[in-house]
Amino acid sequence: MASNAASVLVASNRGPVSYVLDETGQLTARRGGGGLVSGLSAIGPDTDAVWVCSALNDSDREAVRRTAGRLDPADTGGQRVRMLDIDAQVHADAYNGIANSVLWFVHHMLYQTPLEPVFDAEFRRQWAAYETYNRAFAEALAEEAAEGAAVLVQDYHLTLTPRMLRELRPDLRIGHFSHTPWAPPEYFRLLPDDIAAQVLGGILGADRAAFLTQRWADAFTDCCHAVLGPGIPSGTRIGVHGLGADAEFLRGRAHRPDVDERMRALREQIGSAPDGTPRKSIVRVDRTELSKNIVRGLLAYEELLRSRPEWRERVVHVAFAYPSRQDLAVYRDYTAEVQRMAAEINSRYGTPGWTPVELHVKDDFARSLAAYRLADVALVNPIRDGMNLVAKEVPVVSDEGCVLVLSREAGAYEELGEDAVTVNPYDIVRTARALHEALSMSPAERAERTKRLAAQATALPPARWFLDQLAALEG
Ligand code: G6P
Repeated sequence: MASNAASVLVASNRGPVSYVLDETGQLTARRGGGGLVSGLSAIGPDTDAVWVCSALNDSDREAVRRTAGRLDPADTGGQRVRMLDIDAQVHADAYNGIANSVLWFVHHMLYQTPLEPVFDAEFRRQWAAYETYNRAFAEALAEEAAEGAAVLVQDYHLTLTPRMLRELRPDLRIGHFSHTPWAPPEYFRLLPDDIAAQVLGGILGADRAAFLTQRWADAFTDCCHAVLGPGIPSGTRIGVHGLGADAEFLRGRAHRPDVDERMRALREQIGSAPDGTPRKSIVRVDRTELSKNIVRGLLAYEELLRSRPEWRERVVHVAFAYPSRQDLAVYRDYTAEVQRMAAEINSRYGTPGWTPVELHVKDDFARSLAAYRLADVALVNPIRDGMNLVAKEVPVVSDEGCVLVLSREAGAYEELGEDAVTVNPYDIVRTARALHEALSMSPAERAERTKRLAAQATALPPARWFLDQLAALEG
């Protein structure tokens, strides 16, 4: 146990900061966004809480080397962060190989036969790295935790850590939280039997296993019964904690001058129809991620233009598709496919004064907020999604109301389904029809719905999400 042991710990692959090393040898910390970072800020600057995360690149590794793994509080806004220098190859195998190519694919049901999945000797080699990586977290947590501390382990990167940690430190209260969907048993059992049992057994090493929605919690329980036999063997409690948008942060951030400036630029880009009326906008903001279903979104937009010619020249699809997991060929190919589709729609329907799809791939949070504020319609059509925070953020910052077209396969559907226009994400014709319905909605109804969506979306702010989990672990 460290001399300055912590009573609350969080563990996740990606930490609250990442570093950039410049040619002069200077390291600069970049603070990440997201629910976990804002959730943890809820426990305040005076606590002894420690966040254990992994170095993700060589700059992070250099920061770990210079600080012996305990990052400079000046870089982290005062947060105690222990960053682990896990061997680069082990990290790549665990993160790219197992977490992102296998577990992510299982839970989002992304495999495509006839070639996938293949659990061969290479998979077994990567699985051993995943075990090593999970053990490194368990050992660091065991070292940092005070007697009886609460430890919140996050996500599919760290399914084995709870059990490993339990063996090292039976005194701890351990929670595991899944930010993804959970696969139904028929799909989960694509995994080799021993691996499926290890994943479930690893999470069941925790006192509580929690999920974003009841649907994913039920799927987990069903998998336990199917793989391990009836009953949740270790007596692990199952919990559900929805994660909402951080209204205060978003509203403040969305009204800064850099966002206003980007709104002006976007308005200009969207432009006006030949008769002078401002064009409508259909906005989407995603990581370029297979589960986000961006290509089918473009197909649905094309179907709208084909089947409802009255929208030609009168609407622009503003699609922000930010790079993600580009180490993986399948993500690179998907990125290329998104770009190809957008170019094809533009060449088929575009006119000298009108670009039907404005696709942007350079990550820019201020521009995303600008698009949220001005969007007439937001398209959120994932194949499967743990929650989807874009669906919750748009209504919160929308200036004049925005119609949400929402996949019934997103976790957010459970809370927002009633006031959104909902779609089966595979159904292109009906998604096109939903876009038409959304574009045609009266301003009054649109504003009313947006108000109700915003209230739902902010009911569980990140701070509450985090504190509720801690409280439940105490109980
Ligand atoms: C999902 C996971 C998160 C992760 C995010 C970004 O939402 O549930 O844990 O932070 O994807 O993924 P990345 O691979 O970039 O960390």
